[in-house]
Amino acid sequence: MTAAGTTGASPLLEVAGLSVHHGQLQALHDVSIAVPAGQVHAMIGANGAGKSTLLRTIAGLHAPTAGSIRLDGRDITGLRPERRVAAGIALVPEGRRLFPSLSVEENLLIGASSRRTGEWSIDAIYDLFGWMRDRRRQRAAQLSGGEQQAVAIGRALAANPRVLLLDELSLGLAPVVVRRIYATLPQLAASGMTILLVEQDVSQALAVASHVHCLLEGRVTLAGPPARLTGAQIEAAYFGVSAASNGNGYGNGSPPGTPASAGPASAGPASASPAISGPAISGPARQADQPPGVHL
Ligand SMILES: Nc1ncnc2c1ncn2[C@@H]1O[C@H](COP(=O)(O)OP(=O)(O)O)[C@@H](O)[C@H]1O
Ligand SMILES: [Mg+2]
Repeated sequence: MTAAGTTGASPLLEVAGLSVHHGQLQALHDVSIAVPAGQVHAMIGANGAGKSTLLRTIAGLHAPTAGSIRLDGRDITGLRPERRVAAGIALVPEGRRLFPSLSVEENLLIGASSRRTGEWSIDAIYDLFGWMRDRRRQRAAQLSGGEQQAVAIGRALAANPRVLLLDELSLGLAPVVVRRIYATLPQLAASGMTILLVEQDVSQALAVASHVHCLLEGRVTLAGPPARLTGAQIEAAYFGVSAASNGNGYGNGSPPGTPASAGPASAGPASASPAISGPAISGPARQADQPPGVHL
């Protein structure tokens, strides 16, 4: 019942015992996470760990083989994707997936088509991203990667979500653009929005999230507030080997952007290392589709 969600203690988004298969491949194994209202949680993990599968399953794009998804106490596991948008879940997919031949504003209006009532009018989105109003008639294809990412976020906001799912926000973007996009997230959380983001740049995730979950081959291997996690713990959870037993076990393969020592890290915007390919997992082709020198 929704009453459960009105107490501060109960999570707004609750995933319990989730398993998801892609054909024969089991991409998620018994995954459970709980995200309280107004918090930013980050999901980290190597390429192929199952991060996108988790977000897409929460959005209703994959059907789980076991487990449940609850929004404010209501079981939404069987809802169709568009009904989940209406219930308050919006996904910014990996790779943005705008309609390239439509204008900025037309893309935003698509997001608004099954909107809940709320503060995120198209005007409010233009206020958040200052440049967007002047360029609202431009085709999405003409925008830089960072601009497209902003429009993709705006399109999700246009639905007035309670839960915003962000998949690989920083992928392919210049660090300055990543910083600007990340700077909008605290504002969204302060407005009461619950955010679950997937990020390969661990440093970025630790800096913005109140709680980090690590996925390895479809299983949650670590979860907690960044201040309570050590770099060695994160490394072990990320790669699935004991960092403590062999401090140099990965060659130079620290999780991308992991700070040398844990803590509220922001020793500079170490961008995602291109070196990581993770152990023995070949995920879908990465989208290195951004032109160099993008700017927002
Ligand atoms: N649509 C799909 N069909 C078949 N296999 C898939 C599909 N999507 C993802 N996978 C596989 O599921 C695993 C998890 O992928 P994914 O969720 O995309 O991981 P991540 O987002 O962490 O890189 C990978 O082995 C990937 O190849
Ligand atoms: Mg992914």
